[in-house]
Amino acid sequence: MLRTPENEGRSRATGRFVALVGALALAFLVAACAGDYPGSTIDPKTDLGETVHSLYVSVFWWTMFIGVVVWAVLGYTIFAFREKPGQERPRQIHGHLGLEIAWTVGPAIIVVAIAIPTVQAVFATQARPPADAMVVEVTGHRYWWEFHYPEQGVVTANELHLPVGRPVALRLSSADVIHSFWVPMLGGKRDVNVPRTAPEGQEPEYNHLYFTINEEGTFLGQCAEFCGESHALMRIRVVAQSEADFQGWVRDMRTPSPTAMASTAPAAADQNEAAGTPEAAPSPAPQEDPLVTQGRETFMSSTCVACHAIEGTPAAGVMGPNLTRLGRRAYIGAGLLENTRENLVRWITDPSTVKPGVRMPSTDREARLPTGQGMWPATGLTDDQVQAVAAYLSTLR
Ligand code: CUA
Repeated sequence: MLRTPENEGRSRATGRFVALVGALALAFLVAACAGDYPGSTIDPKTDLGETVHSLYVSVFWWTMFIGVVVWAVLGYTIFAFREKPGQERPRQIHGHLGLEIAWTVGPAIIVVAIAIPTVQAVFATQARPPADAMVVEVTGHRYWWEFHYPEQGVVTANELHLPVGRPVALRLSSADVIHSFWVPMLGGKRDVNVPRTAPEGQEPEYNHLYFTINEEGTFLGQCAEFCGESHALMRIRVVAQSEADFQGWVRDMRTPSPTAMASTAPAAADQNEAAGTPEAAPSPAPQEDPLVTQGRETFMSSTCVACHAIEGTPAAGVMGPNLTRLGRRAYIGAGLLENTRENLVRWITDPSTVKPGVRMPSTDREARLPTGQGMWPATGLTDDQVQAVAAYLSTLR
C-alpha cells in the first residue's frame, strides 16, 4: 500500500479504535470479577441450588468439548486443504462408514451422559422434604410477599429469615394471580398459584420448594411471573442466619417491640440479642418522643389497622403486610425503598407514586382492594400525622 498521509491517518484511527475496543473489553472483564452478587444464578447456597448448578456446569463443559472438537477439525480442514499451487483434489470421504458410525455414536453417548444427571436432578427438585423440615407458608400478593411460619407463630413480609443447615419446606400459594418465587441463590424457580380447590376432606394442591441453606448471607429474589403493573417491583430478600440468630429473630418477632404500645411497663430486655449476654437491670422507661406517641395513636385510630398487624397491639389486619418490628427491615415496599424515616413518609403519603397499582391507599387517593373489586378510601392523614406514623413505625425495632 502506498504511504500517503491519508493512509497513515486511517491506520492511526484504526489503531485507536482497536485500543478502545480492547480497553472496553478489559473493563467489562474486570467488572465481572469485582463485587458480590446477591442474586447470582451461578453461586448456589443450597443443596437444591447445587444440584441445578452442577447440571449447568456439566452441560457447559460438554458443549465446550464439542465446540473444541468441531473447531479443531474445521480449522485443520481449512488450513490443510486451502487452495495452493499444486493442490490436488483431496480424497473424498462421502459415505465413509467409519465416520458415519463415529459421529452418530459419539453424540448419542454425550446425550445419554447429559440425560442421566438431568433426569436425576428433575426428580431431586420434586423430592419430598424430610419430616423435620421447617415449613414456611409463602403467599404472593400484588405486589408483595407474605411469610407465615406456622410452627413458630410468626408472620412477616418481604424479608424471609431462614436458618442455615436446617431443611426448609416452602409452601407456595397466591392470594390473587399467578406469581413466581425466584431467589436464584436458593436454586430453582417455582410458580406461585392460587391453590387448586380440593374435594371435601382433601388438602388443596400447593407448589412446594425444598432446600437446605449451607451458608449465611443475604440473597435477593424477585417475582418471576408477570402479575400486573408492578410485577418488576415485587422483590424478595432472604436473610440466611445461624440457627441461634434465627431463634433470636423468632423470639423477637413473637414479643412486642418495646415501643409497640405506650410504655407503661419497663422496656423489654430485647437489646441483649446475643445469647449469654447478662441482662441489663431494667431501667425506667425513658421519656418517649411525643411524635412517636402521636404516631401510635394515629395508627391505631386510623384505617391502617384494617390491613396491618403489629404484634402486641390491637392492630391485627391481615390484608396488608404484617408490620411487627418493621424498623428492623432493610427495605420497605417489597425491596423498593431503603427503610428510612423519609422513605416511610413518602410511602405512607402516596405509595402509588413508588409502586403503580399498589393496594394501599394514599393520604388523598383511594386504592383498589386486594381482591380487585371495590376501592379502599384514602387514609385522609395530614402531613403531620404521616410524619408521626413514620416516626412510630421506625421505632418498631
Ligand atoms: Cu408477582 Cu410478578
